[in-house]
Amino acid sequence: MKRYSFSRPIEAELQLFEREFSSVLASDVSLINDIATHLAAHRGKRLRPMLVLLTCGLHGAPPRAALQAALAIELLHTATLVHDDVVDSSFLRRGAPTVNGLWSNRISILMGDLLFARALALLVEGGDLRALRLLSDAVFRMSRGELLQEEHGSDYQLMERNYFRVVSDKTAALIGACCQLGALVAGGNESHMHTMQQFGENLGIAFQIRDDVLDYVGDQRTLGKPIGSDILNNKLTLPLLHALRSADPETARTMLAYAQSSEQGRVEAVLAFVRDNGGVRYAEQQAEQHLRAALACLAGYESSPYLTALEELVSYVGTRQE
Ligand code: IPE
Ligand code: IPE
Ligand code: MG
Ligand code: MG
Repeated sequence: MKRYSFSRPIEAELQLFEREFSSVLASDVSLINDIATHLAAHRGKRLRPMLVLLTCGLHGAPPRAALQAALAIELLHTATLVHDDVVDSSFLRRGAPTVNGLWSNRISILMGDLLFARALALLVEGGDLRALRLLSDAVFRMSRGELLQEEHGSDYQLMERNYFRVVSDKTAALIGACCQLGALVAGGNESHMHTMQQFGENLGIAFQIRDDVLDYVGDQRTLGKPIGSDILNNKLTLPLLHALRSADPETARTMLAYAQSSEQGRVEAVLAFVRDNGGVRYAEQQAEQHLRAALACLAGYESSPYLTALEELVSYVGTRQE
């Protein structure tokens, strides 16, 4: 299993996490077992459960107390990825074929629902209605963000504002919920919860901007998922939206129409356009700004291995290649 510097204070809990993650999906239905085995074999970075565990430690409780919440979060995250790969017609994730690629779209939808149900059941077992509310609010915002993303327009100024709303909903809501859950389990007060919400929200926005940047400039082998898939899916993300704003209006109009078309050569053309117009650099600056805001949220905490780890995690999000 890949190790990160920021996982050091929670190594033991992460090992327990992996064991539980596989066993929680065991089933007497062999199709479910096969998919669960595939999902457990190709694990992701586990950033969200790490955030739950580290923020629990940050607020003075043993991270072990947040294990169940961490499991619920990762199950939910996995459910959204299984569905997302259907929505985006994606056939590669974590360096392996997707569930829709190996099985089918129908099976992906059903399996995603099963994962989602399992996540809810775990939280119910935990017995804290506030945790359930946190997660259901996050799920609502994630779905809203994915739907808002489907609205296409022709006004790219408006689209940039929409972009931040989409990113905040579809990605930052869950990351914010992770950090709040950690604090909640540890018995943090209202002010802690608010700080963790702000921390996670800023971190999450930067995380998705980085993801969108990697779709332009990443390396498929390192990233484990296809490059250029946002352009292919007519998803206009920050690097492109900024490039449109920087280019002369005539060129921008042509490029926008091209990016929204289904023409064959558009991926290469849009990529070059974005590079030539500083779109990637601008998006990176925006991510940096949100990461600085996230760091500022940690300023009031006294030093601990958890605090150091979270600070390291923030800088990882700005530079990650995977
Ligand atoms: C992918 O999240 C979905 C986004 C919000 C961009 P991750 O990059 O955390 O996915 P895994 O779990 O590590 O594969
Ligand atoms: C994030 O968006 C999807 C979710 C929040 C579920 P993307 O579509 O960019 O995520 P990847 O790139 O497929 O992981
Ligand atoms: Mg996707
Ligand atoms: Mg992406």
